[in-house]
Amino acid sequence: MKSITVSAVKNTFSLECSDIAPDKSISHRCAMFSLLSDRPSKIKNFLLGEDTLASLSIAEQLGASVKRDGGNIEITPPSKLTEPSNILDCGNAGTGMRLYAGLLSGIEGSFVLTGDKYLRSRPMNRVAIPLRNIGAKIDGRENGNLAPLAIRGGDLKSFKYASPIDSAQIKSALILAALQADETSYYKEELLSRDHTERMLSGMGANVSLQEDGWIKINPLKEPLKPLNITVPADPSSGFFFAVAAAIIPNASTVIKNVTLNPTRIEAYKILEKMGANITYVQKENIYEPIGDIEISYNGTLSPVTVENNIAWLIDELPALSIAMSMANGTSLVKNAKELRVKESDRITTVLTGLNACGIKTVEHEDGYEVIGGKISSATINSHGDHRIAMSFAIAGLVSEMKIEDTECIDTSFPNFFDILTQITHIKD
Ligand code: S3P
Repeated sequence: MKSITVSAVKNTFSLECSDIAPDKSISHRCAMFSLLSDRPSKIKNFLLGEDTLASLSIAEQLGASVKRDGGNIEITPPSKLTEPSNILDCGNAGTGMRLYAGLLSGIEGSFVLTGDKYLRSRPMNRVAIPLRNIGAKIDGRENGNLAPLAIRGGDLKSFKYASPIDSAQIKSALILAALQADETSYYKEELLSRDHTERMLSGMGANVSLQEDGWIKINPLKEPLKPLNITVPADPSSGFFFAVAAAIIPNASTVIKNVTLNPTRIEAYKILEKMGANITYVQKENIYEPIGDIEISYNGTLSPVTVENNIAWLIDELPALSIAMSMANGTSLVKNAKELRVKESDRITTVLTGLNACGIKTVEHEDGYEVIGGKISSATINSHGDHRIAMSFAIAGLVSEMKIEDTECIDTSFPNFFDILTQITHIKD
């Protein structure tokens, strides 16, 4: 278990980041969606994190051939996906496991999806039940809810499904199944969750469209899709750690270059703006989605905030946002966020335990929490194997020295996180 100590910043900083980790959600989808074409997909700036490399390796086990030159990747799909000779390891990635469950449910053969001890304790029935209802054969521990998941792929029926949870992972799993179903399918969620799947598949020629009545209509594939040709933008949820850093350190600023500006992904920046930070967005291009730069600068003490809407749009950033809340001059409130309990850790518990260790008072609710702004003090924080907990408290270390235990998990999504952090402060093992 590797520990790292982050020292408080001595001077303010002005950080220009053109090497924020490439987007994790888009990278996973590149590995999987390239299997739906009959020609090689070309992907630049693929995230070389453990989670997305696990998805790429699964694509290879299913018969794809992969040429890699750093983050530039060419994926040539097989003419027919093959039954792998071994289990498929998704690592720590809920996205990997849930989306592959949808994709493999429609492919003839036997597949076993597993993952690390954290992923093996996360709920899978949220995808397995709607998939079983359309004919998928999926089993697992605890009545089919926990991985390893054993999937026997085969014919799938079309569906009309309104999801009780706003989740891009459930939506994407069902869309991947719908592409292989017998007839047109429909999917609905209350708040549109991140929509990379719809954008990328439509760009590849699939008939996936959001209708005016809020239902997403998915036609089964009649022929292989066009290959992907994409440069993966930077991940706004990774960039957000350095956005919070700029918002809490007097006179600091951060520019995050070439990041996706997809509205379903930048809500946390809007909240930080509401708390008082200066933020500007400059769109530069549109490749499957809007891409550009985000500039964040310190603008005095932050104000407290209530976060209760559009939760699915900022679920990954709430741990880092909580560090900003702990520096605000009042009490912030997070509501309607019970999904936090089933992420890489129970993030309500792990965030509040960490904040309390730093001397910040909090109140826990079943679906959220309150953070009473105060002074962050030095502490030792255990990440509980959750990359976003480790990185959030590393940012808190800019205010008051912080020892973070169990930092290996950061490699799942942001392998160069500490390389960037050392540009603004001192770090020791
Ligand atoms: C993701 C969707 C989100 C997010 C996760 C990545 C995706 O999960 O928390 O980090 O790539 O689809 P849910 O859709 O389950 O909320």
